[in-house]
Amino acid sequence: MSEEPVQSKIHFHQPEISLGTELQNLVIEMSEVLILTRKEVESCLSMKRTIEAVKEAYMAFANNRVQMPPVMHLDIAKYNGEVDIKSGFVEDFGLIGTKIASGYYDNHKLGLPPGMAVIVLLDLKTSMPLAIMDGSYITAYRTGAAGAVAASVLARKNSKKVGVIGAGTQGRMQVLALREIFELEEIRVWDIEEEIGKRYATEMSDLLGIDVNYSPSREEVVRGSDIVVTVTPSRKALVMESWIEKGMHINAIGADGPGKQELDPAIVKRADKVVVDSLKQCKIIGEIQHALSQGLIQEKDIHGEIGEILIGKKVGRESENEITFFDSTGLAAQDIAAAHVVFKAAVEKGIGYSTRLMS
Ligand SMILES: NC(=O)c1ccc[n+]([C@@H]2O[C@H](COP(=O)([O-])OP(=O)(O)OC[C@H]3O[C@@H](n4cnc5c(N)ncnc54)[C@H](O)[C@@H]3O)[C@@H](O)[C@H]2O)c1
Repeated sequence: MSEEPVQSKIHFHQPEISLGTELQNLVIEMSEVLILTRKEVESCLSMKRTIEAVKEAYMAFANNRVQMPPVMHLDIAKYNGEVDIKSGFVEDFGLIGTKIASGYYDNHKLGLPPGMAVIVLLDLKTSMPLAIMDGSYITAYRTGAAGAVAASVLARKNSKKVGVIGAGTQGRMQVLALREIFELEEIRVWDIEEEIGKRYATEMSDLLGIDVNYSPSREEVVRGSDIVVTVTPSRKALVMESWIEKGMHINAIGADGPGKQELDPAIVKRADKVVVDSLKQCKIIGEIQHALSQGLIQEKDIHGEIGEILIGKKVGRESENEITFFDSTGLAAQDIAAAHVVFKAAVEKGIGYSTRLMS
């Protein structure tokens, strides 16, 4: 990485020489942490830059320059909530990062959002805290970017029609990211709530200036699509194997926890190339958990991790007729990559609130 280390731009100091204890304490006290709100994060992140960052993260992972312990999942039944903690470090960015993200499904009764996400960045060399920022916007962007990065090497280059199963945040983000790579002409969308699906169609067609149509039939949304994106919290198959056509690419995004499922496992068996973000994660919390546990595929049938394709260790799409399948569960490395972009931009723009955590 040729970029100048971000911490050199703020009042953060790493003593290269041995300092007296008193001076060392002073240096530590002077170290500042940048606190960034959701709005500030938003002003520092573009989809285009997030796609580049996520690509770098996947490549670093494939080159063994990332360490990520398993995702920590907490079920908080008493409050109908769940919390995921994703952590790791990425050598390329010189950062350690942790994201705590929650889904609290009764929060709306209290007038609160249905969850939150917060990201903490530490300097990899010294472990000194650098930033604390809202992570919800980053999650939305880095997940959209993941779908686009995967499709860039797995979908047909002339892909124009996208079928979207799930009209929520990711239903939007996936399309916004794909638009950075492909000349999209038509989006078809399905949602379990007709009203949500119809609202999506109106909003996205205004935003993109292309045909965006809601259909109450999932089959109609899937058939004829070049790229199919599944983005719901479903726990049963929504897309059937018989609807999948030659040449399609499928981005399976929604299943990111044990038991979550959006696709008929026979699709995973039929796909010519099954690609995952992390095999370790996907086999436990990804869409492939079902095909594996039912014995429809074995680990050896998985073509590889997306980073392996990006670094040229494995091939991407090889023919117009191939059916390709990408299973995304979301890596801490993606969060760190996007948070890195935000942190650098915030330092450059001089925004955020700096404070000394350890004084
Ligand atoms: N792979 C990743 O990195 C990653 C990242 C973020 C979110 N996700 C997952 O993607 C999914 C969607 O996230 P989102 O932020 O877009 O959520 P969202 O709540 O904004 O949208 C989900 C949509 O699915 C619909 N829906 C709800 N329950 C359903 C069901 N049982 N069957 C079918 N449709 C249903 C809702 O009407 C809603 O429009 C979630 O499962 C989330 O955990 C994955």
